Amino acid sequence: MSIGEGAFHILAGLLKSRSGVVLGRDKAHFLESRLLPVAARAKLPDIDALAAALLRPGSEGLAVETVEATLNNETYFYRDAAPFELLRNSVLPALRRERRAARHLRIWCAAASTGQEPYSIAMMLADDADAWAGWNVEIVATDLSRRALDRAEAGVYSQFEVQRGLPIQALLRHFDKEGGHWRLSRDIRRRVRFRQANLAQSFAHLGAFDVVLCRNVLMYFDAAAKADILARMRQMMPTDGCLLLGAAETVLGLGVDFRPDWDNRGLYRAGAADLPAVASA
Ligand SMILES: C[S@@+](CC[C@H](N)C(=O)[O-])C[C@H]1O[C@@H](n2cnc3c(N)ncnc32)[C@H](O)[C@@H]1O
Repeated sequence: MSIGEGAFHILAGLLKSRSGVVLGRDKAHFLESRLLPVAARAKLPDIDALAAALLRPGSEGLAVETVEATLNNETYFYRDAAPFELLRNSVLPALRRERRAARHLRIWCAAASTGQEPYSIAMMLADDADAWAGWNVEIVATDLSRRALDRAEAGVYSQFEVQRGLPIQALLRHFDKEGGHWRLSRDIRRRVRFRQANLAQSFAHLGAFDVVLCRNVLMYFDAAAKADILARMRQMMPTDGCLLLGAAETVLGLGVDFRPDWDNRGLYRAGAADLPAVASA
């Protein structure tokens, strides 16, 4: 069965307006596989009926569930490895020198999903405890998905999840086995503050950040939305602040005030961009 043109239009429109995520017609099968269970729970026969129900008054709960079901929450500990090595060996030591008087640093994981990314940073800081003695390092982790944030806050991961990217020493040092699952230690969990935030809406209330990780989420947005989000992030960062994007993402061509660090893929410095802006809508 495939989704009718009208239903696809309604569902893609809902997703775009609520999350900024853009879905092409080639994603109809993806939509269908994610949304059939939502339709079934709502006792609707198919996706077309789900789309029709979303147009009716009082469908707010269904709309939230529909958007949640279509978000890609894929993540794992120390994803791609290199950005975390960069943080540990270069970005954070430089900021530690710059901020040595205040001893205060703020890090934001802007699409944190189920928590593996901010917890990877928290474990890194705990493992370098001597270097960070006397420091107040805040890690703020946000996501649009309430369901992902609930899982992140619990800090409980399956055997499969801890086998993806997490070194065995980190597993033994920071997790406790609970039945068939692994629970992160209280020390690591308390280092990260989770909050719901939609990148498509204002996030200025989160305050200023020295380091922003916005990885593997901008690729779902169109150029105008990417440029808007990055420009608003830039306003929250000092000129020596650093932005880390995912391997398939870039600021180039978006006309935003970040400079690529050509030696380190995925790393961008706040401050005048050295390439002309050619942002398109
Ligand atoms: C593929 S995961 C990336 C997780 C992590 N940053 C990483 O690289 O492993 C993308 C996340 O972006 C979130 N997301 C999608 N649209 C969003 C929006 N408008 N605002 C905030 N988060 C959003 C999804 O819920 C999902 O958890």
